[in-house]
Amino acid sequence: MNIGTNMHDDIAEVLYTEEEIKTRVKELGKQISIDYKGKYPLLIGILKGVTPFYADLIREIDCQLEMEFMCISSYSDGTESTGLVQIVKDVAVNLKGRDVLIVEDIIDSGHTLQHLVEVFETRKPNSIRIACLLDKKERRDFSCSIVPSYTGFICPNEFVVGYGLDFAQYYRNLKYIGILKPSVYGE
Ligand code: IMP
Ligand code: MG
Repeated sequence: MNIGTNMHDDIAEVLYTEEEIKTRVKELGKQISIDYKGKYPLLIGILKGVTPFYADLIREIDCQLEMEFMCISSYSDGTESTGLVQIVKDVAVNLKGRDVLIVEDIIDSGHTLQHLVEVFETRKPNSIRIACLLDKKERRDFSCSIVPSYTGFICPNEFVVGYGLDFAQYYRNLKYIGILKPSVYGE
């Protein structure tokens, strides 16, 4: 591992600029506002990566909504999913009859959300949908049937950081999303 003190030096290529993200998040918020009109959705953000996206998205949604967060662990400090999903912090509210919108930073294999949706379904919500900023569609495991209702960008099969996304807990505070130089994670 070779994480430099200057975040920007470790980025091989900027994939989505601050402006592009802002524009897309606005569009997603607009669509969500239309779809949930007259409802009281419960937006469940998956910590920690989702925080910048979540904070920006809710302010683009013009309807009554409730905020909740969950902490799930499915990743080590490496760049590959372990396939193991563990609920570290659960939501504090009853999901029965609620319109749940899971907000996630990125879908990779799909294991994390597949597991989460299965857990949530046992709690009998009225609906469950997924909003993700990035979808690494080509990486989806065949065993995962989840399909996000709202996607910011279809992401290429690269390890990306920024705007909440981390490598070994760093780079989350970048304003843009970029491809991490492979030399940083030791290839
Ligand atoms: P999945 O269970 O394989 O879909 O993994 C989803 C989780 O893996 C995300 O919530 C991220 O925390 C992490 N992840 C997947 N790809 C990346 C990436 O390119 N950069 C940073 N984190 C990633
Ligand atoms: Mg995440």
